[in-house]
Amino acid sequence: MTQKTPNHRLGPLACPVTLADVDLFAPGAQEHWYEAYPILHREAPVQVLRGAGMNGVGDAFVLTCYEDIERVVKDPERYTPVMSMLVAQLQDMLERGERPPQDPSRFDLALESVRTLRPTLELWRAHRQELTDPWVGPGAKRHTAMITQVVDELIDRWIARDDGDGKGTVEFIQEFARPLPQIVTARVLGLPLADIPRLADWGSAQVMQYVYGRGHANQLDEDQQAEQARQLDGFADYLADLVASKRRHPEDDMISALTQVHYRALDRKLTDDEVYGIIYFMVLGGLETTQYALEEEAQLLCDDPGLFAAVKADRAQIRAFTEEAMRLRAPTQGLSTRVTTRDEIFQGIGVPAGSILHLRFGAGNVDPRQYDCPYQIDLARKSLGNHLTFSQGPRTCPGAGISRLEQVIAWERLFERLEGIEYADGNTFEHQPGIMLGTLGLKLRFRRAG
Ligand code: HEM
Repeated sequence: MTQKTPNHRLGPLACPVTLADVDLFAPGAQEHWYEAYPILHREAPVQVLRGAGMNGVGDAFVLTCYEDIERVVKDPERYTPVMSMLVAQLQDMLERGERPPQDPSRFDLALESVRTLRPTLELWRAHRQELTDPWVGPGAKRHTAMITQVVDELIDRWIARDDGDGKGTVEFIQEFARPLPQIVTARVLGLPLADIPRLADWGSAQVMQYVYGRGHANQLDEDQQAEQARQLDGFADYLADLVASKRRHPEDDMISALTQVHYRALDRKLTDDEVYGIIYFMVLGGLETTQYALEEEAQLLCDDPGLFAAVKADRAQIRAFTEEAMRLRAPTQGLSTRVTTRDEIFQGIGVPAGSILHLRFGAGNVDPRQYDCPYQIDLARKSLGNHLTFSQGPRTCPGAGISRLEQVIAWERLFERLEGIEYADGNTFEHQPGIMLGTLGLKLRFRRAG
């Protein structure tokens, strides 16, 4: 099992003071990302990573301005998603009669479904509308009662604790923020809850490069890849058994629906490979990400007890709070996911065709050219929700609907059942390695409501 322990040697990197100190990808850099962003915005809104281009050719470019990232994600034809390039390569190989190699992360399972189901932008949209939106997009509302029940059951496990002074202690990540999206994902997909530990291990293995990978493109070395393949052993067989059983005995869940649906966009049913691919993406994208949002939201409330009191007193503000929190502390800080198809200029910097762009969503969200007082939570901010946390445009995160719903319900119930929260003793606030923003642990003291 991939352990997220304080395993990353923080290295000599200290808080950056000048541009020369800024390396967003060095070991331990996550401890200082938010000190690095103002320096980049001021002095290098497009940071050039020399020699870090695709396959070691040319340079890579880190975009930190809101307007640049927005321009890129809204135009997938001009800025090709890396996933589309991988699919095109796969298609070429198959046409040449070559057998594609098995990916250690088993991303081959996912790519195959993109190749056959989403080869064009139009089909990309149909995929979202017909296959994922009803479950994890706008249609996620159907899960409201289930999510509320899961949230309350998790709170029930620790709410009665009392350390002798009228307050209790909870490890908020282990006992709330982590299990919530895991249980919700399992329930949406239609998996037995007993499978969650296995699923969590496979999910951790899938995202290994985003935690342990090196550089802006999150590369694993050969040993790590072998370890990843070992950890994912059994996942493909599990998917095959699961899909076969849901085809035979469909229930009211997403996997059953995928096995039965007549997909209008292609006027046919989905193949098993296609269903495997969709599940792979749901586990990859959905199992962990919401954990980081919940955990950072709890920290923002501990940092500002007045904010806790204000939102508790006016629950209509919860949505504004979660949107502002996700803007200020984007769970997915950045991804190297787009490639330029022609020569471009960003903020006066020439970027040649074929360059890889690292989209720094976390920095774009605190760009002072886009937001007044960007480092403050402002519940009355105009255009709440127009942040880059889920990306934007036609390839925006398909799971944003369910993640938002989980967060809003979580805080509705937590505000209802708690009088206040504060940090407990013993927090190191050390961040986990990789591109997600999250601390390794979060011990809170809480006071029960009424
Ligand atoms: C706070 C939680 C989340 C954050 C911050 C987040 C963020 C993102 C971002 C930035 C992308 C890249 C989009 C692009 O390339 O333009 C993405 C893609 C994706 N996300 Fe999320 N996500 C979250 C939750 C979820 C959930 C709950 C699911 C599944 C239920 C999910 C499924 C996916 C999938 C499948 C993709 C790949 C794109 C595709 O296949 O169409 N995400 N997400």
